[in-house]
Amino acid sequence: MIYEGVAKLKRTTYAGKTNEDFLDQDVILDGWVAKKRNLGSLIFVDLRDREGIVQLVFNEKDNEHAFKVAEAMKNEYVIQIKGRVVARSEKEINPDLYTGKVEVHVTDAEILSKSKPVPFDIKDDTNASGDLRLKYRYLDLRRPYMQKGLMIRNRILQATHSYLDANGFIDIETPDLTASTPEGARDYLVPSRVYPGSFYALPQSPQQFKQMLMGAGFDRYYQIARCFRDEDLRGDRQPEFTQIDLETSFMNQQDIEDLTEGLIQKVMKEAVNYDVKLPFKRITWQESMDRFGTDQPDTRFEMELKDVSEIVKDSDFKVFTSAIENGGQVKAIAVPSGAKEYSRKEIDKYTEYVKRFGAKGLAWMKVTEDGFSGPVAKFFKDPEKITQIKQQTGAQTGDLLLFAADRAKVVADTLGYLRVAIANEQNMIPDDKYNFLWVVDWPLFEYDEGSKRWTAAHHPFTMPNEGYEHYLNEGEDPHKAHAQSYDIILNGLELGGGSIRIHTRELQEKMFRALGFTKESAERQFGYLLRALDYGFPPHGGLAIGLDRFARLLAHRGNIRDVIAFPKNSKAIDPLTDAPTPVAAKQLDELGIEVEKKDDKE
Ligand code: AMO
Ligand code: AMP
Repeated sequence: MIYEGVAKLKRTTYAGKTNEDFLDQDVILDGWVAKKRNLGSLIFVDLRDREGIVQLVFNEKDNEHAFKVAEAMKNEYVIQIKGRVVARSEKEINPDLYTGKVEVHVTDAEILSKSKPVPFDIKDDTNASGDLRLKYRYLDLRRPYMQKGLMIRNRILQATHSYLDANGFIDIETPDLTASTPEGARDYLVPSRVYPGSFYALPQSPQQFKQMLMGAGFDRYYQIARCFRDEDLRGDRQPEFTQIDLETSFMNQQDIEDLTEGLIQKVMKEAVNYDVKLPFKRITWQESMDRFGTDQPDTRFEMELKDVSEIVKDSDFKVFTSAIENGGQVKAIAVPSGAKEYSRKEIDKYTEYVKRFGAKGLAWMKVTEDGFSGPVAKFFKDPEKITQIKQQTGAQTGDLLLFAADRAKVVADTLGYLRVAIANEQNMIPDDKYNFLWVVDWPLFEYDEGSKRWTAAHHPFTMPNEGYEHYLNEGEDPHKAHAQSYDIILNGLELGGGSIRIHTRELQEKMFRALGFTKESAERQFGYLLRALDYGFPPHGGLAIGLDRFARLLAHRGNIRDVIAFPKNSKAIDPLTDAPTPVAAKQLDELGIEVEKKDDKE
């Protein structure tokens, strides 16, 4: 029979593992037909499973039944075969394939399942659209590229579990149906049927629950925690994502950083066999902003931001002098030229790019043997100034100096983003390097331009730095306070963050007040936490690492979607299930919800 439909035999190994160790042995393999070539009396089939592919050979002369079955096979059919592992001749060896020195001469074969022609080829360099890949995610996930990403993610998880277990951490689950948590994004709400008009919120993180667990005495908690945030999506953001979340009692910031470094070192070794040197470098938030224009600096390349305000403040170039007079600054980056000449067109492109950060322009000068060239160079003819600018920026002959003149925030964004964009474009970033970095000593508050108010830079439970607590007293300026918080940066992306927490009611109440809560509104939203602090709450702190981002960086993927089995697209839709979908009127009735008619998802 050609189509049997059940596996009669027990698999002996994976297709992708069938290498020369199996020479002259009989193997039984299950898998998918990745490719078939029919050469008349010989048929070659690439058999694929999660470990890779192996070449099967069907020979009409040797085994007529198996050959007939092979004739009926098409791409993506599921088959079972029995065969002998045979060495390939010297000239047929494929050095790129783990199984490339052998092939399997098939003696018996069975088709277990048929497949329609697939909507896109199952191969690494697919050009299928993102949504098509998501709609047929099970096919997309068959691609070795996707399987590899999820395998790396698994290695990270396994290493994490074993490290944290060995260090006395207890894995405790916290609820998904809960009250709103203030991590700064919009909540996903779940209506209550029993209490119409009331809603659960899906957790933006388990923050308050893990603190409660410290109050409960568990001392070292961790969880691979699902978090939900309704925010604008980007390459490193999904509405639903996963944190390696931990919390400890009686440990200070240094202890937590040491412990995290140990975790990361083990993960890097076990997931990608990379040796990380400890301790990680640490820089303060201020230094990071000054040198890189961002709080998540990529330190794999230089081109740092250099302040030239002092040097140019009494020049004749109005763009610079007026920015400084208005309380702003002038900074520059020196773009190394290598052998390259930057054209006007390229510089115009950069100028256009930085407009999105509020920049009014991008002044530039090229460094020549005896000074500068370019339209702005006429303002900088004084040899002493030329030397000073070259010294301050570290610019060499041939380099391109790019200047931003504005208030500090605009200058930081302009040159911070431009630095990374140019480095990417000019291939200045070594992609085999993993640079971990702590950014510490954050401000406790940050100004939110959107809502025009001060918000907690990390979250409202973060402890001020020692000696800064008084800024939370009435009449003082809380915005001067620094925080015991720390972010871990990997290759220019925020990988994780945490803080030491406030553990007394008095300080927590002051914090809420500084954030604009009244006593009553703080009590209403956070009464349970404040109450808990009344009952012997230990000093505590912790951190959370974004698992999706970690896996994305270790797998060298451009988007965290590629390391999540069933992600949403950039419009927060899952094209596989079509979620979110309208629900039956009866369901809405039960929930006491009336829906205003709007155009649907489009
Ligand atoms: P934070 O909000 O900084 O801290 O989040 C921690 C880490 O989670 C990852 N992350 C995301 N990953 C994918 N998609 C998203 N939308 C997304 N948002 C955040 C990032 C980030 O560094 N409760 C605190 C931690 C603590 O204080 O212990 C918290 O959630 O990698
Ligand atoms: P302008 O005087 O407007 O012709 O600008 C002269 C040069 O300065 C141009 O290259 C502009 O792109 C640049 N420029 C204008 N405003 C700024 C600014 N705020 N910061 C840096 N460069 C600027």
